[in-house]
Amino acid sequence: MNKNPEKKQLADLRVSYTKASLGIHDSDPDPFVQFKHWLDEAITAQLLEPNAMSLATVSENGHPSVRTVLLKELSAEGFIFYTNYESRKSAEISDNPNVSLCFLWKELERQVLICGSASRLSRESSEKYFRSRPPGHQIGAWSSLQSNEIPNRQWMQDRESELTKKFSGTDIPLPDFWGGYLVKPREIEFWQGRENRLHDRIMYRSCGKSWDKVRLSP
Ligand SMILES: Cc1cc2nc3c(=O)[nH]c(=O)nc-3n(C[C@H](O)[C@H](O)[C@H](O)COP(=O)(O)O)c2cc1C
Repeated sequence: MNKNPEKKQLADLRVSYTKASLGIHDSDPDPFVQFKHWLDEAITAQLLEPNAMSLATVSENGHPSVRTVLLKELSAEGFIFYTNYESRKSAEISDNPNVSLCFLWKELERQVLICGSASRLSRESSEKYFRSRPPGHQIGAWSSLQSNEIPNRQWMQDRESELTKKFSGTDIPLPDFWGGYLVKPREIEFWQGRENRLHDRIMYRSCGKSWDKVRLSP
């Protein structure tokens, strides 16, 4: 009898990747174009939150942490997301701007990994995005003391009600403690799952104004 059925089940979970391939010559010379191409395919495939990405940061004492955020814009310079500037991730970015992003599009058997440097957007750019959010999300940004301990859920809901009253009938302003970050990539790797674990990995490395491209072993 198997004394540890869960362990056996996990060991047997295995998917064979056969959907596509990615060669060094058929990937675009510009990783932004290649990224846009894969993102569009993830959107067309109607994946749930195709713009969700893991964001890894590192604390002052070298401890890493990771969480999911949403890509809200792909600019000519990099990847933009929005958050609370008093959160744990923001504190870590202030101490160390080196971050890493991971997009996982499992249904397409694809992953994109990005290493780069994060910097705050101008208040003007953050304001422009904040204005485009539904009012409930704007109040949500005001209501959340992101990453801080709070007494209970009711406390947060009371805060939301107070702020809804306070801002009723006015344009909700952008909080000083909320805004965007731009992640400028140094490296972007495109991973396409292949049969027998011999996956395709195409790595772009920034060299000034252009990009070098190499194939990595899986
Ligand atoms: C699908 C998904 C999307 C998310 N998008 C964001 C986002 O765009 N910005 C954000 O601040 N947090 C977002 N979160 C919440 C974060 O994962 C995280 O809980 C929060 O930012 C606090 O992280 P921190 O304490 O490490 O700073 C999202 C979570 C999920 C599951």
